[in-house]
Amino acid sequence: MLELDDIQHYLLCRPRAIIAQYFFMSFDSADSGRKWVGALADKVGVAKSVLEAAETDLRWITLAFTYNGLKKLGVDEASLESFPDAYKQGMAARARMLGFTDYNHPDNWEDKITDPNLHATVILFARTQEEKQRCIDLHDQWLKENPGVNTLSTLVLEALPPYDYVHEHFGYRDRITTPVIEGMGITPSPGSMPPSKAGEFFLGYNDETGTMPALPQPVELSKNGSFLAYVKMKEHVGAFRDFLKANAATEDEQEFLAAKLMGRWRKSGAPLVLCPEKDDHELGWDEKRNNNFDFANMDPKGYACPVGSHIRRMNVRDNKVSQIMNRRLIIRRGGTYGPHLPEGAPEDGANRGIAVFAGCADISRQFEFLVSVWANDPEFAELGERDPFIGTQDGTFNMTIPKRPLKKTIKGLPAFTSVKGGAYFFLPGIKALHYLASLK
Ligand code: HEM
Repeated sequence: MLELDDIQHYLLCRPRAIIAQYFFMSFDSADSGRKWVGALADKVGVAKSVLEAAETDLRWITLAFTYNGLKKLGVDEASLESFPDAYKQGMAARARMLGFTDYNHPDNWEDKITDPNLHATVILFARTQEEKQRCIDLHDQWLKENPGVNTLSTLVLEALPPYDYVHEHFGYRDRITTPVIEGMGITPSPGSMPPSKAGEFFLGYNDETGTMPALPQPVELSKNGSFLAYVKMKEHVGAFRDFLKANAATEDEQEFLAAKLMGRWRKSGAPLVLCPEKDDHELGWDEKRNNNFDFANMDPKGYACPVGSHIRRMNVRDNKVSQIMNRRLIIRRGGTYGPHLPEGAPEDGANRGIAVFAGCADISRQFEFLVSVWANDPEFAELGERDPFIGTQDGTFNMTIPKRPLKKTIKGLPAFTSVKGGAYFFLPGIKALHYLASLK
């Protein structure tokens, strides 16, 4: 049974928030870091209480640590050694393997995210601007009273207009799919995978193989923890809109092309497999239908949803491709940063995009596999292409849109995004936060 009173709320509840702020923190000493963790441990949202009392529980803080952070707090050598290599090395060191090369190289990352003194992140979600400010003021006051913990950088995330649905800067509706975890009492929507075993996302539980992977030591530190892969991606909205205009004559055709790149219609999120010719708003908003499809049986050749589209790469919905069901899933959290670029406005060069945390139990098997193989390996499905949104596009890769009688090929896809930051964090359970605070 999931220990909901010990798991941080972040991966189990979708914060009902419109505003967020990430803080990237550094400790001068073990002592200052431990005091800070100790002070915040009781303010961190706990899954059980947030799930049961979402309206009154305002503890929307999440706390996670880099490998250097655990080291700085004084976690001993044997314990540090027992953490997985991907986490120990950090994302920047593995950028080449991930395919984050060229303009996506860590040299171009922002917010001091590759600073070896990055030790922790605080993720704050709030339902109002006032509530966010109240939490920030409390945190600032605590930092003043307890010197030795410094903010390296912050990132503000805000919902984009129109506010009646969640979408990113290109205009795609988001937050439609998320894995359901066994033991939460939630029935997956029709067509979705069966609930995932808890061990796919939380340490100390059986995973899809029916066994419990070895835990980093000591168990007090690792049990009920997860790993978070952080990615900040700038979105080149002007370039994306120009691309749609250059490759499609009418507005309807531009919408159609945008849907082909994603696999879902922009405004409603309706899946192309179920409505291949025209957006269907009702279907997109119907939770019983908007995931009720697969690719292998319903659209094997990709005539509806191109094999290279983002959602078809990120969730292949085909056991033959993913080997064991539910082994490549991540829980996506995060949102958009930077100003909205109104439709029709010229590109203003502003920094805008998404900043997301991918939650999983095994960074390498889950997050890194998605990015390095399904997004960036041109061998994926023998297409010779990369993910149109998150693949590193240097202008040499095409996008094939299967079509009868002749497929359409868009030559030399431009880059619609650039990676502007990335790091790996460990998200401990509540008892583990107290364990870290009490280290000697
Ligand atoms: C700017 C870059 C990105 C954009 C515009 C984008 C957009 C989207 C959209 C609109 C969806 C469909 C909504 C849904 O099914 O809930 C989606 C799904 C998804 N994205 Fe992204 N995304 C981006 C980056 C990423 C990154 C960095 C990852 C991490 C590996 C990722 C992984 C996924 C996954 C796993 C899904 C769910 C697919 C499914 O279950 O059908 N995306 N994305």
